[in-house]
Amino acid sequence: MTLVNKVAIVTGSSRGIGRAIAERLGRDGASVVVNYAGNADKAQEVVQAIESSGGKAIAVQADISDLGQVRQLFDAAEAHFGNLHILINNAGTFLMKPVIDTTLEELDKVITLNVRGIFLALQEAARRIGDGGRIVNLSSNATIRSDPNTSIYAASKAAVEQLTRVLAKELGARQITVNAVAPGATETDMVPDMAREMAPQITPLGRLGQPTDIADVVAFVVSEEARWITGQIIGVNGGMS
Ligand SMILES: NC(=O)c1ccc[n+]([C@@H]2O[C@H](COP(=O)([O-])OP(=O)(O)OC[C@H]3O[C@@H](n4cnc5c(N)ncnc54)[C@H](OP(=O)(O)O)[C@@H]3O)[C@@H](O)[C@H]2O)c1
Repeated sequence: MTLVNKVAIVTGSSRGIGRAIAERLGRDGASVVVNYAGNADKAQEVVQAIESSGGKAIAVQADISDLGQVRQLFDAAEAHFGNLHILINNAGTFLMKPVIDTTLEELDKVITLNVRGIFLALQEAARRIGDGGRIVNLSSNATIRSDPNTSIYAASKAAVEQLTRVLAKELGARQITVNAVAPGATETDMVPDMAREMAPQITPLGRLGQPTDIADVVAFVVSEEARWITGQIIGVNGGMS
């Protein structure tokens, strides 16, 4: 219970990796704000799972690419639990398409959530998180693999990594750490069938990642033990690089 008296927002935690992170931080004692876009029932399931293991949580709907809704999300967290300590900037979207076929609408959709949304949540966290806080952004090993058909997604995650490095320097004086966790292919609704099928062959540790593989590392990065880690991109990918 290393996170007792800490308040955490996990964006996009109604499903997938975000859900596993929210449940893990809840088990570690944090009061967790489970953010979601549209799946209220799923978000409520996560709240119930955290509460049934003795933790505290609320679900808050907010589109993180909308400034007003991001502010309402942070306001709701503070109104319910008090001062914020941890932001897990997890909500994201994926696109698998060759450059030559990518439409302007698809380009805008990925950049709007994966860059603008991440930025808005970072800006709000930078204003509100107190000294000694923790910020973790979700990147992807797409930035190092540079696979065909991942151009705009990989580019959006490269932006996430650069925001991580710069903000770590801007917030260091307040002892706030800013890091990115970069998963490999992980068993969620987002993972493409091809990656799911190929993962055991192309991953040195021989299987597809599970959301809890990622959540366990995030739990360490937000812990007191990780106080000297900031501005880092931490690959969590079974060696799939
Ligand atoms: N899965 C992988 O293989 C993999 C690999 C590398 C990196 N990642 C990264 O890990 C993160 C989580 O991925 P995942 O696979 O867990 O995704 P996922 O299963 O598709 O879940 C996406 C989550 O984001 C929420 N969301 C979507 N749009 C949102 C918005 N505009 N505002 C707020 N929340 C929104 C969804 O809420 P609703 O349920 O309400 O729709 C859901 O909770 C992403 O940043 C992704 O890029 C994933």
